[in-house]
Amino acid sequence: MALKNVLVTGCSSGIGLAIAARLAKDEQKRFKVYATMRNLSKQEALVQAAEECVGETLEIKQLDVCSEESIKDCVNDIPDRKVDILVSNAGIGLIGPIECQSIDEMKTVMDTNFFGLVRLLKEILPDMKRRKDGHIVIISSVMGIQGILFNDVYSASKFAVEGFCESLAIQALKFKLQLSLIEPGPVITEFERKVFEDGMKMDPSGVDDETANMFTDIYLKNYKSVFQSLGQTAEDVAEHTLKVILAENPPFRHQTNNLYTPLTTLKYADPNGDLPIDTFYKMVFQHDKIFNASLNFIKLLRWRSTRSFDLGKT
Ligand SMILES: NC(=O)c1ccc[n+]([C@@H]2O[C@H](COP(=O)([O-])OP(=O)(O)OC[C@H]3O[C@@H](n4cnc5c(N)ncnc54)[C@H](OP(=O)(O)O)[C@@H]3O)[C@@H](O)[C@H]2O)c1
Repeated sequence: MALKNVLVTGCSSGIGLAIAARLAKDEQKRFKVYATMRNLSKQEALVQAAEECVGETLEIKQLDVCSEESIKDCVNDIPDRKVDILVSNAGIGLIGPIECQSIDEMKTVMDTNFFGLVRLLKEILPDMKRRKDGHIVIISSVMGIQGILFNDVYSASKFAVEGFCESLAIQALKFKLQLSLIEPGPVITEFERKVFEDGMKMDPSGVDDETANMFTDIYLKNYKSVFQSLGQTAEDVAEHTLKVILAENPPFRHQTNNLYTPLTTLKYADPNGDLPIDTFYKMVFQHDKIFNASLNFIKLLRWRSTRSFDLGKT
């Protein structure tokens, strides 16, 4: 495989950082990684994760997906503007009742998660089409397949990404370009912490008591245990992304979390769309004790399997 230039967005932390480090450290040196972030003062964690690669297989550059100018400047700085693989990863979350969120906050989510991808492609797609070569990898989410309680706007932004890509994929095929949506479930990153802290700070005065209680007593109360039971590491998602990049025929959709797949399968099982909504409703409002017991059971199984794996190694 010839050396591939990879541009990754949102590499200051989490999944973007893990993907940039994993590709830069590739033993076969198949990638030159342009790891980008909007704020270069946050590069220390990436430098630490892939120190030996900096200036070799890894270059760190500024790129804000909300600024066309910064995208253009970054791409112009890459030799021959040649991006073989784009990993569109930068994203932000938003949780809570819509009554407590301003339209401006919602627009920022759409501007980053959806229009961020559109801006990148407006700059990079024409070159890929001309070369009839390129792979566009997008870090979407299981919430791009199925909405979750109190994630209305975030989920809408990922649905927008998925619809956009489904449409574009048909045209891309004509130019021999690949498009792949990576769909993680919960991943333990800064995202989880930031979203939870913002949720805790939310002013509930604009919403009725029943909704406010639902958000604090059900959603926020269970938030951490969902991540602890079902959460993956960013490094795990990076391994999945590498496999998709290296695949001879990369899939259009790739879910990274086997524990979550039974839930997304509900979406595909019922064309009327009632099955997943009904199941989530019952899980949250009627069978919450069973739901919590299942999460604890999964947590225990995962802890035991890690423990036996560790014991096996020594
Ligand atoms: N964590 C999860 O549970 C989960 C699950 C499914 C999908 N995802 C998706 O995975 C992607 C990465 O999230 P993560 O979990 O790794 O979260 P993270 O650790 O918070 O990383 C998000 C990255 O995006 C960057 N970013 C935000 N706005 C940006 C902008 N305007 N321009 C450039 N970069 C920007 C952040 O930079 P700053 O440090 O400057 O803010 C950060 O580097 C997101 O698209 C997210 O929707 C996450």
